[in-house]
Amino acid sequence: MDTLRQRSGAKAERGDIRWHAAQSIQRCRELAAITDVPGQTMRTFLSPAMRSAMTRLQSWMEAAGCAVSIDAAGNLRGLYAAVTDDAPLLLIGSHLDTVPDAGAFDGVLGVMIALSLLEMLRGERLRYAIELIAFSEEEGVRFRVPFIGSSALVGRVDHDLLSVADSEGITVREAICSFGLDPEMMGKASVVDRAAAYLEFHIEQGPVLESEDLSLGIVEAIAGQTRGEVRFIGSANHAGTTPMYLRRDAVAGMAEWIVAVEGKARATKGLVATVGWVSAAPGAGNVVAGEARASLDLRHAEDPVRFTAVNELLEKAQSIAARRGLRTEWQPQMEQRAVAMDARLTLMVETAVCETGAAPLRMTSGAGHDAMILAERVPSAMIFLRSPGGVSHHPRETVREEDVANALAAGLAFLKLFDTTRDAHA
Ligand code: GLV
Ligand code: MN
Ligand code: MN
Repeated sequence: MDTLRQRSGAKAERGDIRWHAAQSIQRCRELAAITDVPGQTMRTFLSPAMRSAMTRLQSWMEAAGCAVSIDAAGNLRGLYAAVTDDAPLLLIGSHLDTVPDAGAFDGVLGVMIALSLLEMLRGERLRYAIELIAFSEEEGVRFRVPFIGSSALVGRVDHDLLSVADSEGITVREAICSFGLDPEMMGKASVVDRAAAYLEFHIEQGPVLESEDLSLGIVEAIAGQTRGEVRFIGSANHAGTTPMYLRRDAVAGMAEWIVAVEGKARATKGLVATVGWVSAAPGAGNVVAGEARASLDLRHAEDPVRFTAVNELLEKAQSIAARRGLRTEWQPQMEQRAVAMDARLTLMVETAVCETGAAPLRMTSGAGHDAMILAERVPSAMIFLRSPGGVSHHPRETVREEDVANALAAGLAFLKLFDTTRDAHA
């Protein structure tokens, strides 16, 4: 059998790579049909659909030669052993959960590419082990707290998180227990003492690579995020009998603030701000709303710019509320600083991409990724694949087979380079 060293880059391998690229795409589509909500793709943390998707993936991972386990945070992990037990460990992964009405590729494609890379090793054992990680939770949909899976991997276990409840009142602790896992073991999911590096493949989810007519990008940094919920509290009353000047309408106050959020982001270079979820109570067309709630998601590559914007927008909410006889509450949900990818590993990834003949573009990611959590404790790098139409978090999200093939070729080249620098990771 040819070794990885002999095979990667060889001409004959291109056909094999194309076959695996097509299979990766087909598997993403297969998993997209495993959903909690019929008629759309939606899989959340430890949901029934997540269990089915993990079962399917586990069989593929085992067939590729992995020893598979599920850690206490619900991450599905496949260890592809090295020639020796004490070898360095390379992590490759992405997430399996989705947003509501999702596309088939966000997160899942990174997992399928990692799986294809292991399959292309055809059982050959390397001088380092590879652990394929399919993260249980990245999007923050079910509990409004993202990165539950990757946080556990870096040993960041927040005990308050276990009491957070979903919209049905089920807590994170209960969700973990009813999946058959032990929340007290979450600390044991940590890999920081063992992992030499983390690599993640992901669709760009934006239009930059397409506009540059490029197949692959190299992520240098990931923008920081603040997420939370603003609540406007007024007074519910009859929609027909309450004169306009006597109302304390929570929805009207919230609407004014949402427009201010958009204005602030438009006026600040590089800032993106989103109110992607709103609700009103009591929630009837003929009742002035007594309470309105809105999510806030704010991102920038520089943390101080983000902090200033968050403070300004919360002050703005208060001043709008005061003028309208309302009051506000702010419930922070996540504060994630901007992170740089590891310079040395990123250079290695870039070298690997160049070896495939692709010209990579170095870029900053506006989307959050598991890599930004791993990067806190493990040297991390990311490869982006072009997103046709720049569309993501949408059922029309897609990817080109040729770009997946380029990513696989770059992945094989990276595995070879990682081997040549193995002593530095030991
Ligand atoms: C994850 O997709 C994010 O919200 O950036
Ligand atoms: Mn996403
Ligand atoms: Mn993602």
